[in-house]
Amino acid sequence: MNENGELKVFAGRSCEALCKTVCGFLEGAPGRAKVVDFPDGEILVKLDEDVRGRDCYVVLSTSEPVNDRLMELLIWIDCLRRASAGRITCVLPYFGYARQDRKDEGRVPVTAKLVANLITAAGAHRVITIDLHAAQIQGFFDIPVDHLSATPVFVGYFQDLQKKGELKDLCLVSPDVGNVKVAEGMAKLLGGDLAIIYKKRLSGSTVETGQLIGTVEGKTVLMFDDMISTAGTVCEAAKLLKDRGAKDIIAAATHGVLVGPAVERLAASPISKVVVCDTVPRHARTDPLGAKLVELSVGPLLGNAIYRIHNNQSVSALFRNSAGPKR
Ligand code: R5P
Repeated sequence: MNENGELKVFAGRSCEALCKTVCGFLEGAPGRAKVVDFPDGEILVKLDEDVRGRDCYVVLSTSEPVNDRLMELLIWIDCLRRASAGRITCVLPYFGYARQDRKDEGRVPVTAKLVANLITAAGAHRVITIDLHAAQIQGFFDIPVDHLSATPVFVGYFQDLQKKGELKDLCLVSPDVGNVKVAEGMAKLLGGDLAIIYKKRLSGSTVETGQLIGTVEGKTVLMFDDMISTAGTVCEAAKLLKDRGAKDIIAAATHGVLVGPAVERLAASPISKVVVCDTVPRHARTDPLGAKLVELSVGPLLGNAIYRIHNNQSVSALFRNSAGPKR
């Protein structure tokens, strides 16, 4: 046992499978607890083991249904605090509300900041998260935030494909200007050209893609984004890339949110492969995508981060092979 006390990792209901992978990496079992729904929708978290003075981690994505998951997270924190946990770290593989990170028009909230305030007020001491929609969200917290990148996970997967002779004539495409830095970093890590699409968002689920900066004719195109939500962005981009002569189109994103028309859109699109991480739990509605959907695990990445934080070690080593934050 170290000065942070014994390590305990608990699974929120959105991350039970991921938490098992994390605990597998740490060679331990998830902490014992129950989460119960009452008939009126209230949630109860009950710990089934002692956490007094322990170094506790709750792995929970605030994914769909976002408000229920967020409330569950706050209840976990309160429960651990009242049970006298020594330190409480929220491991948020996917941070919901991240897209409400600024006042881009008058009379709108900055909900990402509100969520950060709620997590801190509930009693969390630290946050670990992956590929925030905007890196500055870290600054919304007045507690330490370890903002990890899933790009090393993608780089490992795509380098394996390259070793098998796939991904020839590669071109990394940023499906919008906000993601150019990541696409550029991936182009350096995997080798390949870079192209950028100019996107205009018309509504929460529709986008218009206008211009392509760069050439994709005869190329294997790899698009990178932080998330695929309704898949409007990547599917509209894929149409444009196909029109411009792309040979094969792969879409990769850390968070496969895949809501609304996403599955239908992806199934009908010219995208041959959709590669996402397990930061958002898979839903049966994605079954029609079959082998088109590839899921990579961030479990070892999170396990390694927890191990290092628990042992007061630097997490910088986890940024090797990283394309850096979005912006
Ligand atoms: C936007 O800035 C994000 O990086 C994603 O491109 C966007 O959130 C994806 O949403 P959708 O799949 O609904 O187009």
